[in-house]
Amino acid sequence: MQLFCLRLRGLMLALAPWLVVGCDNPTAATDSPTPETTILPTARYAPRRDFLVIAIPEGAPTHWHAPGYPPTRSLRLYPHGPDADLVAELRKQLNKNIFDPTDPTLLQPVQADRINRLLEVYFGTPAAPRVSLPSWETVVATATVRLESKKSLGAILKSAQSRLRSFPWDVWYTDWHAATAAQDQLRLDDATLARGSVVYRRWCMQCHGPSGAGEPAHAVVNGPMPRDYRQGLFKYTRAFPPANVKKKGQGAAGKPLRTDLARVIRNGINGTIMPAFPTLTAQELEDVVSYVIHLSIRGETEFATMAKITNVGKLTEDDPDFFGGELDWLLMQNYLWVLINWGIAAQNPIPIPPEPFTTEDERIDSAIRGFRLYQSAEFGCASCHADYGRAPQLKWDAWGTIVQPRNLTVGVYRGGGRGEDLYARLYGGIVPSGMTAFHEQLKKTAAGAPDPLWDIVHFLQALGDPGDRRRMQEKDPTIRFDP
Ligand code: HEC
Ligand code: HEC
Repeated sequence: MQLFCLRLRGLMLALAPWLVVGCDNPTAATDSPTPETTILPTARYAPRRDFLVIAIPEGAPTHWHAPGYPPTRSLRLYPHGPDADLVAELRKQLNKNIFDPTDPTLLQPVQADRINRLLEVYFGTPAAPRVSLPSWETVVATATVRLESKKSLGAILKSAQSRLRSFPWDVWYTDWHAATAAQDQLRLDDATLARGSVVYRRWCMQCHGPSGAGEPAHAVVNGPMPRDYRQGLFKYTRAFPPANVKKKGQGAAGKPLRTDLARVIRNGINGTIMPAFPTLTAQELEDVVSYVIHLSIRGETEFATMAKITNVGKLTEDDPDFFGGELDWLLMQNYLWVLINWGIAAQNPIPIPPEPFTTEDERIDSAIRGFRLYQSAEFGCASCHADYGRAPQLKWDAWGTIVQPRNLTVGVYRGGGRGEDLYARLYGGIVPSGMTAFHEQLKKTAAGAPDPLWDIVHFLQALGDPGDRRRMQEKDPTIRFDP
């Protein structure tokens, strides 16, 4: 008996490693550094169910419980925010400017379903993302033949015939061409997007969400929420479409260059939880930039179509078939326009002149001129950044989030603190937050006079640096940085 037990104990000892790690090869159980490269083919982009902010109301948000630096408050937190009452109050303030896509009187379930199917045709799935433009023949067919279940075939053909005659085909052919060109320029081919989707799932999705909605739950006290790409708007861009370009759809303002997205991803966003990704390879970076653009184009096509349906809400009353051919055409137009707008942005980078000064003396003199411009009525920075941004005027951004004009005394700039970054910010403003663009001021500057935007850039850089502030005051004792 004793001998048997000893043998058993010996067997147990010999077996011990297996009992602990199981019967698998122990090396396979360790954490593998190989990234996940497969995405479930059944995965789908979720249809939009959160509020759409159609327009930002004029003026500052009211009924604020604490002036100064409020924690993050946004319509995007509704109804799950930590202070439901406060967010409900925001909802009331935005009131007519928002649209609830889950309200069946605004967007019928059959319309929502149709939008979702069309989006899948054009943009694929997370495992097989694509930006597939309709052929010219499909555009013609969709524009002319509006299939509607309640109408007889004869009536449909008759209206198609008259549309064929009167439709502005040359305009649409040009648009279709421009959309195709933009697609090439933006590198939106299937292989790039498939690789980008893998990178996105690994590094970005937990904050920016599977469909690019930006997870509002990742808001932190006093910090911005991850960007929702689905409005086609970005904050730290160096594209500035000229005013004389005819606005199609939602317009090209607020769209970034590919290099803007790459810079933000590589460097992160200072002062927020958006991390830097220094270890992505050049290829991974390019791929994920394409994928972000894909999500944004998909999201904006959805947004613009839903937003338009609220406007044509009356149309649904006399025409209960608005979800038929009319809806297909509406979505296709938005799709072409969104792509065209990305193309326009890509062709219009902000011209940033090189840093004009080399000596410290010149830079401090420039900062002193910048100080005066900052105070001037022409620039009016203080009307939003009161007390250098220490007592900011609260504003709404395009997503219904309350933003504070930046505190300019701490030297933390989200879009980057280099001269060229700040120059671009002043030139083009921050479109979705309503920060003014000051490019017009350049036209008012006499030839040979110092560039006022560079002067303000130098002032901003000096403002965040106690040594520079002292140097400015030594040269000009009337300068004050106190409230
Ligand atoms: C820990 C959360 C987090 C992760 C992970 C994250 N982001 Fe962000 N991201 C943010 C936040 C927060 C913002 C908004 C910052 C702001 O509004 O200033 C943001 C903003 C952005 C923007 C908008 C820039 C602009 O000009 O408006 C882009 C583009 C972006 N992120 C891309 C990515 C990509 C691509 C990845 C993955 C490689 C990623 N982010 C990973 C939190 C995150
Ligand atoms: C109409 C209001 C308004 C005016 C006028 C205005 N700003 Fe702003 N500014 C804002 C808002 C709002 C933000 C923050 C946007 C956000 O966080 O989304 C901001 C942000 C900034 C930033 C931060 C950029 C970054 O990368 O983080 C700088 C720098 C700045 N403003 C400088 C100026 C200067 C200098 C002037 C005057 C030449 C000026 N602003 C005029 C509203 C304004």
